[in-house]
Amino acid sequence: MATMHKKRPTWILASVSVVCLFMIGAYVNPSIRTRTCYLFNSRGCLTYDLHTETYFSRKLSDEEIESRIVIKEFLKFLPLQTNNPKVAFLFLTPGSLPFEKLWHVFFKGHEGKFSIYVHASREKPVHVSRYFVGRDIRSELVSWGKFSMVEAERRLLANALLDLDNQHFVLLSESCIPVRHFEYVYNYLLYANVSFIECYTDHGPHGNGRYVEHMLPEVEKEDFRKGSQWFSMKRQHAVIVMADNLYLTKFKHHCRPNMEGGHNCYSDEHYLPTFFNMLDPGGISNWSVTYVDWSEGKWHPRSFSAKDVNYHLLKTLTSIEECPHITSDAKRSVLITPCMWNGSKRPCYLFARKFYPETLDRLMRLFSNITSF
Ligand SMILES: *[C@@H]1O[C@H](CO)[C@@H](O)[C@H](O)[C@H]1NC(C)=O
Ligand SMILES: *[C@@H]1O[C@H](CO)[C@@H](O)[C@H](O)[C@H]1NC(C)=O
Ligand SMILES: *[C@@H]1O[C@H](CO)[C@@H](O)[C@H](O)[C@H]1NC(C)=O
Ligand SMILES: *[C@@H]1O[C@H](CO)[C@@H](O)[C@H](O)[C@H]1NC(C)=O
Repeated sequence: MATMHKKRPTWILASVSVVCLFMIGAYVNPSIRTRTCYLFNSRGCLTYDLHTETYFSRKLSDEEIESRIVIKEFLKFLPLQTNNPKVAFLFLTPGSLPFEKLWHVFFKGHEGKFSIYVHASREKPVHVSRYFVGRDIRSELVSWGKFSMVEAERRLLANALLDLDNQHFVLLSESCIPVRHFEYVYNYLLYANVSFIECYTDHGPHGNGRYVEHMLPEVEKEDFRKGSQWFSMKRQHAVIVMADNLYLTKFKHHCRPNMEGGHNCYSDEHYLPTFFNMLDPGGISNWSVTYVDWSEGKWHPRSFSAKDVNYHLLKTLTSIEECPHITSDAKRSVLITPCMWNGSKRPCYLFARKFYPETLDRLMRLFSNITSF
């Protein structure tokens, strides 16, 4: 005991000097300040945990502070753990789903572990699976590349959030197929510690080239990101998407096709990647669990037809462990993201697109053999 008493002053002194050193360091080295500067700092520094230092040059607006504090609080409290966690499958489609029969096989036997929501934007779908009957939500017209796409995604999220059991939310299109069996998908999504939202920097015309300065001051060019619209996200992330109005409005007004001067921007590829990059960069994977093949370098990704579909294709898709992001600049560089799941490398993909309706029969046959995936 006596020796401990004697040691204490030295110990206190040492920690005080460490703190002092750190504070001096923080004062002279702005990169330390980035990490130590919190919201209501007396020195009027309003940036909290951002990775860029750009915000030191200006004070945040009232709306930005309000928005950030709400989002930060939401992220701090994990959602209520229910006894029956479910994955919500959100289908964004013009009408009937060509792969509904395949999805039926996927869901069969897992009742109570999933919920389905269908946003059909052009015509009322005809359902062939009992899991899909009565699952259409109120929808509105969606036009390719327009903001109505983001609004439909939010409408799906909002409807699915009403069920407290829904803990993870996956957005899928009519041309998406599952490439893993249900149990694998359920465990992969529910027990991951991130949301799977693709997010990367593309300095080319189809990336940063779409940014306009009207997005300032809230969204700086360095914050602008690109990614596939086909996300999967945790409940707390779906809630912050609902809570956001500030950045949503910025994108609604300044990231649209055919803006002044013929400038094109597509919010469905930029709003969520940019939003998460700014507000919770460590909470997302940066790649999407839905495979797509952009390697042909065309305006639309490759679509798979019946002759392409075989055991080998599915085997290949399910063994990929790195996700390529191809930039749109002259170099067309390929950025490789290893698919890290809770700290270890795992196969990237649970779903794939785009498949023509004619592939259904072949996929059904392969799926009966699905235990191999
Ligand atoms: C992954 O991380 C989450 C969140 O930290 C945790 O709940 C889950 O158990 C982890 N999964 C595994 C398999 O370690
Ligand atoms: C995704 O990228 C952000 C910013 O570049 C980084 O902070 C984050 O750790 C990345 N996510 C993972 C899972 O590596
Ligand atoms: C997810 O888990 C990995 C491995 O444990 C860890 O390095 C990473 O920081 C975690 N990410 C989050 C957002 O919890
Ligand atoms: C079923 O899976 C096995 C491997 O587990 C494979 O060898 C076989 O070709 C598959 N059958 C069909 C019809 O694809």
